[in-house]
Amino acid sequence: MSQATEQITDRESRGTSTPIIQAINASRDYQLVGETVHAVRNVTLDIRMGEFITLVGRSGSGKTTLLNMLAGLDHPTSGQVLFEGGDMADFNEKQFIQLRRHRIGVVFQSFALLPLLSAYENVELPMRIAGVGASERSKRTNEVLDIVGLGRRAKHRPYELSGGEQQRISIARAVAMRPNVILADEPTGELDSVNAAHIFGLFHEMVIEEDMSIVATTHDSTLLDMADKIYTVHNGEIELTEVGGRVDADAQFKRPDEDDSEQD
Ligand SMILES: Nc1ncnc2c1ncn2[C@@H]1O[C@H](COP(=O)(O)OP(=O)(O)OP(=O)(O)O)[C@@H](O)[C@H]1O
Ligand SMILES: [Mg+2]
Repeated sequence: MSQATEQITDRESRGTSTPIIQAINASRDYQLVGETVHAVRNVTLDIRMGEFITLVGRSGSGKTTLLNMLAGLDHPTSGQVLFEGGDMADFNEKQFIQLRRHRIGVVFQSFALLPLLSAYENVELPMRIAGVGASERSKRTNEVLDIVGLGRRAKHRPYELSGGEQQRISIARAVAMRPNVILADEPTGELDSVNAAHIFGLFHEMVIEEDMSIVATTHDSTLLDMADKIYTVHNGEIELTEVGGRVDADAQFKRPDEDDSEQD
């Protein structure tokens, strides 16, 4: 068993200050015909247990690309992304399965719900795959559906739900797994302000009460004061904009607007 596997299965990260995920000079280029897109450039970032990090930045600035690398779904073209000290580019399939089932939960910008399954089944399935027992699965599924306000929509299939409801199901699915880290890409993009604040409030609670780590991208400046750290992503580079609960949300959004060079 490699060192990284041992770390994934055996090591308890909660309560320690060691980063659970680290990006070290991570860059991601996309090679197109006659053009290279530098989607993420030299990002160095630590994600520690019990930390709520938000990434803000204009469309096309590199947020999804970065989040996918932090999740191990994509690998840097240069630099590294480590999970508990192990380079995710070197993980084998078994290690990835472990990671996906137990450690990292992803909320996709496109929701990624299974169309033939009900809301309830969409939330429950990953727990079934991860081997969570039937009564615990049912308890957690009902609990998270209630938390996101969709207990009464449990039997609906995704096409019978509004965009915001589908989004809340995809959040419920990640939360129910109780991973150590949730990486959420625009998790409130389809939500009204009350529901968006509720979801960020839930994330805030989870990092405090369960020592989870959350990284969420957002365009919504009103949600930022719940985060511990805010990074602005600008042309693939990140800049730590604010640390702590009180954030000047206006300052946050000034910088991208001042620069028109970025593709939108
Ligand atoms: N598969 C790909 N091939 C080529 N270029 C890509 C690919 N995926 C993304 N890009 C480019 O990389 C840059 C960053 O894209 P990314 O999706 O990370 O942005 P984003 O910040 O998440 O934007 P949004 O807020 O619209 O979701 C963009 O310029 C995009 O066009
Ligand atoms: Mg995106």
